[in-house]
Parts: sequence; structure tokens; C-alpha cells
Amino acid sequence: MMQTRLSGPTIAANVDPAERQSKPLTTSVRGDFPLLIRESTTGRPSVYLDNAATTLKPQPVIDAISAYYREYTSNVGRANHQFAEIVNAKFESCRENVASFMGAKKREVIFTSGCTDSINLASMLLNLERDDEVVVSILEHHSNYLPWQSRARVKTVLTDGTGVIDLDRLRDAITPRTRLVALTYLSNVTGNVQPVREAIRIARERGVLVFIDAAQAMGHFPVDVTELGCDFLAFSAHKMLGPTGVGVLYIREDLHRHLRPVRYGGGMVSNIKHGAVTYRDGPAMFEAGTPNIEGILAFGAAVSYIQRLGLPAIAQRLNELEQYGWKQLSQFEELIFPFPRHADHAAIFTFRPRSETCDLSFLVQILSDTYGIALNQGYQCSQPLYEWRGVRGAIRTSLYFYNTFSEIDQLVDGLRELRPFFA
Ligand code: ALA
Repeated sequence: MMQTRLSGPTIAANVDPAERQSKPLTTSVRGDFPLLIRESTTGRPSVYLDNAATTLKPQPVIDAISAYYREYTSNVGRANHQFAEIVNAKFESCRENVASFMGAKKREVIFTSGCTDSINLASMLLNLERDDEVVVSILEHHSNYLPWQSRARVKTVLTDGTGVIDLDRLRDAITPRTRLVALTYLSNVTGNVQPVREAIRIARERGVLVFIDAAQAMGHFPVDVTELGCDFLAFSAHKMLGPTGVGVLYIREDLHRHLRPVRYGGGMVSNIKHGAVTYRDGPAMFEAGTPNIEGILAFGAAVSYIQRLGLPAIAQRLNELEQYGWKQLSQFEELIFPFPRHADHAAIFTFRPRSETCDLSFLVQILSDTYGIALNQGYQCSQPLYEWRGVRGAIRTSLYFYNTFSEIDQLVDGLRELRPFFA
């Protein structure tokens, strides 16, 4: 990705040096992922290429979950016995770690059950009215569309010819009724990294709040909320090595005092007297009830794992995989890539046979059962985008840093053998 990548080897004119260069990272990590070293049932190595849906989990993340149950089960923030003290300290150090990972203050990190939950929570906190406008892009996942649409009037900005949000259209879409601009950082369908910095600047010049859906960006290249200047940002742990059921909602600290709780329960109250309630401030105000403790501890382990590898090294490896993947996949004349590949493009490729009648589900099933390759097909929860382009679904391959060139080759071999089914 151009904004964030180190100056790595460019286009795939000669891919071998790039593979050699990143081999240390790939070789050293693959053994950490039980699913990558498990015996395959197809007689070919299992290849996991559905990372935009969820990533694999390394052993330290799996260990963190079981350590909580085996060694120090306790609730969090509610007791000071010997187990609670361990959990309290670990939990808050996870929050600190996540905050520093994303350039936030600890108080700005609210734990949720996932990116979708974070967006729903933000939509409730904003107290929108029916006539309020929320500006989104055509690239949004249903999760960054439906919560806003259920409360306000959603205006959708299209992309330009290069596959990124048209900033002139965004400027025109903002009116005095606009309460929020809510945009994806990186499209889960097209793989194009969006010009969110410019979008944030445009919105802020008009005094409009900005929400960023960073589900596909976080853990793939450095994302710093302070540097971005957004007001809200959301992501899921499970798309960056962590467990499912954990997410983050970042809320800029100076907005907290304008917000009122929308979920009520234990842990978020400092005092209730004669019916009068004083809520705790900071994240506690938004986190009623016992959280997903083991999940959050495991998420902390995922963040530490990524920090050990280094986001610049991860971004560079993803860049190499992107260049190689594009070189290999774009050679198929029978396949179309329905969305433009922007210069700033992640290792996500979405394609389909030219034939409108080809059964994508059948193809993906054979690629899995016979060739051992896990892919995604359908609309990737982004139907407005597909409808706009007049495309009836596609196959998506999405890579993470532990994938290899030879796994891409295995996909290419499978596709080559399946050519007769493309019609
Ligand atoms: N949002 C996830 C995807 O794109 C589930 O596959």
C-alpha cells in the first residue's frame, strides 16, 4: 500500500528476490499457526485464502484463552482476590497495548464484541434523528450501512474510475444536515485503500464528525487515529489474529463528555442513590456487563504478536503477495476483475468467470474439496456495490502475511484445471 509501505520491491517483473527477501518472516511464523501445519484431507497442502473474513490464530493467542480458564479465571474490575488481581492487571495492560498500537489514549479504547457491534454502538451514541444525514460510500460493508440507515437518512457517495471514493462527490454530499461521514478504510471487496485522510479533512472543514471502519486495515499496515484525526474508528480482533467476539470502538476523548450511555448494567456506575445515578467516565461508561475477558486477553496476545513482527514488515510482505497474486491471477483471460485495482491496493482479489451463468458456489466448493483452497464467494456483505456495478457475485481471495507465493501458485493451478467449468 503506497501510503504505508516501505520501499519494497516493485511490480512483479522479478518476483523471486521479493519472495527471498520476506522468507525469513514467512518461514519463522508459519509454525506458529496450528492450522497451517495440520495434515490436509485433500492430499495437497491446505491453503487458507479467506483472511478478509477472519484470519488464522497463532499459538500464543490460543494459549492466552486457555491460560485464563486454566490458571486465573475471574471476573474483571469487580474483585481483588488473587485471581482477580492477575486478570485486572492483564486486562488493563491489554487496553494499554491496544491503545498504543493504534495511537490512541487508553481512555479512548472501548471494547465491544466486534466491528459490527462497535458501529451499532456508535450509531446509538450519536442519538441521530430521522432527518439527519449520514454520508457513506458505495464500498461500505452492510455493517457500516445498516446501523446508520436504521436511524437517519443515508447518502451514498460513488467511487471514481480508479476505485476509490470520489472526493468531489463527497464534498458535494455534505450539507448542513450531515451529522457524520462514515467510510471504510480498505474495501473488503475491492481491496482498494481509501483516501481517508483527505476525506477526514474535507469533513472536518465542514464541522462534520467522521467514523472510520478499519476492519480490513488494522493489523495490515500502521493505523494511527491521532494522526488520522478521525472521531470514531472501529475494528474486530478476529481479522488481525485475535479471537472472534472482540472488537474496539475508538471514540476521541473530547467527545466523551457529549455522550450518554446507551447500554446499562454492572461496571459502568460509580453511584446509585435514591434513584440518582452517576456513571463512571472513560470506557467503563460504554462497557456495561462482564466483557469477553478471555477474548480480550487473547486479543492482547495478538497485538503483541503483530508488534513483535512489526507492522512495516507485515505491510511489506502483504505488498509482495499483492504484486505476485495480481501477476498470477490477471493472466486468466476467462476471468474478469469487476472492480478497478487502485495503485494503493491490498492483497485482496475479487474475480469471476466472464460467464454470467457460472456457479460460483460450485467452483469454490471444488477448489476447497479437491484442491484444498479456502476462498470466499458471493457478495461479501456488500450488495450495494455489486448492484451498482451490475455484477452477480464474485470469488474473493484475501491473503495475510503468513501466505506464500506457492499457495498462490496452488490456487492458479486449481483455476487452470477448472477452466472447463468457467463457461
Ligand atoms: N466482513 C467479512 C468479509 O468481508 C465477513 O468476509
